[in-house]
Amino acid sequence: MATTFFFYTLSAILLLLLLSLTPVSNACPPSDRAALLSIKAALHEPYLGIFNSWKGPDCCHSWYGVSCDPETHRVADINLRGESEDPIFEKAHRTGFMTGSISPAICKLERLSSLTIADWKGISGQIPPCIASLPFLRVLDLIGNKLSGQIPADIGRLSRLTVLNVADNQLTGTIPRSLTNLSSLMHLDIRGNNISGTIPINFGKLRMLSRALLSKNKLNGRIPNSISYIYRLSDLDLSLNQFSGPIPASLGKMSVLATLNLDGNQMSGPIPPTLITSGISILNLSRNALEGYIPDAFGPRSYFTVMDLSYNRLRGRIPKSISSATYIGHLDVSHNRLCGRIPAGSPFDHLEASSFVDNACLCGKPLRAC
Ligand SMILES: *[C@@H]1O[C@H](CO)[C@@H](O)[C@H](O)[C@H]1NC(C)=O
Ligand SMILES: *[C@@H]1O[C@H](CO)[C@@H](O)[C@H](O)[C@H]1NC(C)=O
Ligand SMILES: *[C@@H]1O[C@H](CO)[C@@H](O)[C@H](O)[C@H]1NC(C)=O
Repeated sequence: MATTFFFYTLSAILLLLLLSLTPVSNACPPSDRAALLSIKAALHEPYLGIFNSWKGPDCCHSWYGVSCDPETHRVADINLRGESEDPIFEKAHRTGFMTGSISPAICKLERLSSLTIADWKGISGQIPPCIASLPFLRVLDLIGNKLSGQIPADIGRLSRLTVLNVADNQLTGTIPRSLTNLSSLMHLDIRGNNISGTIPINFGKLRMLSRALLSKNKLNGRIPNSISYIYRLSDLDLSLNQFSGPIPASLGKMSVLATLNLDGNQMSGPIPPTLITSGISILNLSRNALEGYIPDAFGPRSYFTVMDLSYNRLRGRIPKSISSATYIGHLDVSHNRLCGRIPAGSPFDHLEASSFVDNACLCGKPLRAC
């Protein structure tokens, strides 16, 4: 009897000892697990079964697309891409498709650093506004869904955010004023939504920004001069919006700006000569209301893989200095009001007539003789 009692006590002690030694540390905290299960419940992924792996107690191990911080053992990354090279896609012979919405439960993942739910095509509903309260968020990538509503008004609270990509959704509203407070932001992509209003006047506060891709929205008003203070900006795409007013000459003074797409807007006034002598190599100003002459400012610093000036109201001659450009790959000055002889030599010897058609009175190769 006493032996049995002793045996049980010993077993109990051993068990307790064992439990206390078990590394509970690398298990997923129940609150994070519960949040993930709420996220799963709000989404429907019919073809690949990625959420079949979201089961069992430890969300830090082999839950598809979930990873935890090795120190805190809190959920740090959610990475769900509908187009990826993961074998799961190959096996299913298709890209991802998902419907449902992004549950606000996501905001309970207090340590979330990276949230990617991208290219699932069918996820609708809004971006949970509470997302702006996730202090550790660095990457927010929701490209290629059907999200509607607005970019959360207080997105600017995400002081660590480096990537904000909500392109190719159905977002409306304006660019939140607080966005210019994102002092770590390097990559902003809101292309292909229905976002309206103007670019905040103090956009230039985004000093870390290297890519600002805003095309295919309903943005209007002027391009703020302050953009040219963003000295790391290499890629500025404002195309296919409703911007108006002049092109700020200061854009041509930016040290690393390489791509400037302003095509498909209502920009007016002349082409600033600074753009011709800048480091810009892809320049698309097509389909605006630009007028005046093509600046006679080309020189050895002019290196353009693309220079599309078509569909404007440019007049006068094609400047002679253009032959002194180091390189011009694709040049298009068609559909303007230009006149006079097309200069001979590079870059004109490899261009086709379509680059020059529909002007007032251009002549010479590759058009008809003068
Ligand atoms: C933008 O809104 C218009 C109607 O205002 C709608 O027809 C169009 O599909 C919307 N575009 C996107 C990308 O959501
Ligand atoms: C931007 O941040 C500053 C300083 O934290 C704050 O005072 C201001 O209200 C913020 N602006 C917006 C529009 O949120
Ligand atoms: C420039 O923009 C126009 C209008 O958006 C577009 O049709 C054209 O293809 C672009 N040019 C180049 C060379 O990409």
